[in-house]
Amino acid sequence: MIDNQKMSLYAAIESRRDVRAEFSGECVDDAVLQRILTAAHHAPSVGNTQPWDFVVVRSPETLGAFARHVEQQREAFADSLPSDRKDTFDPIRIEGIETSGTGVVVTYDPARGGEHILGRATVDDTGLFSAVLAIENLWLAAVTESIGVGWVSFYDEAYLTDLLDIPWPVRPIAWLCIGPVTEFQRTPDLERFGWRSRRDLSEAIHHEKFGRRD
Ligand SMILES: Cc1cc2nc3c(=O)[nH]c(=O)nc-3n(C[C@H](O)[C@H](O)[C@H](O)COP(=O)(O)O)c2cc1C
Repeated sequence: MIDNQKMSLYAAIESRRDVRAEFSGECVDDAVLQRILTAAHHAPSVGNTQPWDFVVVRSPETLGAFARHVEQQREAFADSLPSDRKDTFDPIRIEGIETSGTGVVVTYDPARGGEHILGRATVDDTGLFSAVLAIENLWLAAVTESIGVGWVSFYDEAYLTDLLDIPWPVRPIAWLCIGPVTEFQRTPDLERFGWRSRRDLSEAIHHEKFGRRD
């Protein structure tokens, strides 16, 4: 059990941030990483399939290669933007791959559990949802440990599959930069830099039928 000194769940949820620029350059302690991965591994999953795996990457060569790949994807995205959005996007960092020192690549195995998965017969995506829940558990455990997490999705899936020798039909679904931070920003980067802000909760709540908000 984690001791009472750790922050409450609501405080962790509120202070969780996607971290890019604030990694301190130190490496996350192995015991802490183990606790964080244990939290991820306690996520709920459809049919109790536990379709996730975690590839811990610390080789400077692999981190460097992935960072260069992501930079290319960033440039391609920037080039696709109209000029006003490009100006807003330019100063935004989208990764901390090398500065975090540790990448955890979360994978999803759609074949885990075999053919007859209790709960996935009608909504196949529930397998993927399960792996994403493991990521949220990981993220919240990390903030409780004062460890930053930054989710990087600017990659070509085939490239990352090849880089880490991920066997078919397993898919990489997230590269998470994980490491100690100098601080957690209070406001999401995309809000601070004017890209997009949090919607009001009242816009997200509907009554009885979608669209009915009164
Ligand atoms: C599925 C997913 C993919 C994301 N991919 C990236 C990414 O490639 N680069 C990045 O800087 N942030 C990425 N983010 C982080 C979001 O931009 C961030 O969660 C959002 O702006 C809200 O900020 P907060 O997490 O600090 O509250 C991703 C988040 C999610 C959930």
